[in-house]
Amino acid sequence: MLNATILGIESSCDDTSAAVSRGATLLSNVIANQRVHEAYGGVVPELASRAHQQHIIPVVSRALEDAQVRPRDLSAVAFTRGPGLVGSLLVGVSFAKGLALATGAPLVEVNHLQGHVMAHFIDEPGATLRHPKFPFLCLLVSGGHTQLLLVRRPLEHEIIGQTLDDAAGEAFDKCAKVMGMPYPGGPVIDRLAAQGNDRRFSFAKPQIGGLGYSFSGLKTSFLYFLRDQVAQNPAFVAENKADLCASLQRTIVEILLHKLELAAAQTGVREVAIAGGVSANAGLRSAFCLLGKKRGWNTCLPPLRYTTDNAAMIAVAGYFKLLAGETAALDVAPMARM
Ligand code: KG4
Ligand code: ZN
Repeated sequence: MLNATILGIESSCDDTSAAVSRGATLLSNVIANQRVHEAYGGVVPELASRAHQQHIIPVVSRALEDAQVRPRDLSAVAFTRGPGLVGSLLVGVSFAKGLALATGAPLVEVNHLQGHVMAHFIDEPGATLRHPKFPFLCLLVSGGHTQLLLVRRPLEHEIIGQTLDDAAGEAFDKCAKVMGMPYPGGPVIDRLAAQGNDRRFSFAKPQIGGLGYSFSGLKTSFLYFLRDQVAQNPAFVAENKADLCASLQRTIVEILLHKLELAAAQTGVREVAIAGGVSANAGLRSAFCLLGKKRGWNTCLPPLRYTTDNAAMIAVAGYFKLLAGETAALDVAPMARM
């Protein structure tokens, strides 16, 4: 089993990705991004599934080639079953089934969110990456989810907190859209924030009890603030972009880390990780490390290349599921919510 060769396939949103791992060691990871959504301010599901259909075969072929693995060498085909856009998931799920049928390799379904957590367990040939020790807390922040997880074992976690409305990535993307930036706005805000004054503006923070999050109020207060400013000075956004981005990013990061700190205090767990697309954010990464130092945590940052959607995390999560004997039947169907 240690030498099991796994093909991972990820197609839950707008990235088509395939990866090959031997055990938990990554041999290849290929990602085709879809630029077609940039102009729309968000992912257009119909366009996403069409683009997946175009990308899936070249992406898988390339991943196998890079890993120097033939389809008949595969021990399992792991795929993202959900959550995600059904039309997008269908492309990856159907392709995985066809390949499993043709090669006789078992199918392994992976929950996309579990994949993001398992990105912390990707090994690279010749490199040792530090993996979190169990149990650990994981702040999972992506375009569709914001959750606090208590991870007890590789495939076992408890959701101890989550957002009541928008996800953190959505807050970045929607505020970016209001400022006229292309989708996805998170990385754009991150880049501009580096040159701005993060104390210049302040935005309302949610008053949610316990370990819950909320980002819809922040988005609305940002929108109203800009509307009022632009009414007085039409060039307000252009003239203050870096400060707006820095201040907004600081607010989102403070909201995220405040509840993470609370979760650590409540659970007494001091092994703490972040994961998901927003964990690529430079402001979040540095504030998380600072907070960890202050609180005496062992902090685990995923390598940048495994923060946003990728199939490497699906292959490795699939490997752990294969080890546990968890294979899927050929009639498995994608799920928008899981
Ligand atoms: O995990 P992911 O690739 O896809 C989902 O599962 O949703 O996360 C995508 C989200 C988007 O909202 C994107 O704007 C955000 O992650 N994101 C970032 C950064 N890179 C990606 N947000 C802030 N700063 C970044 N550097
Ligand atoms: Zn994701």
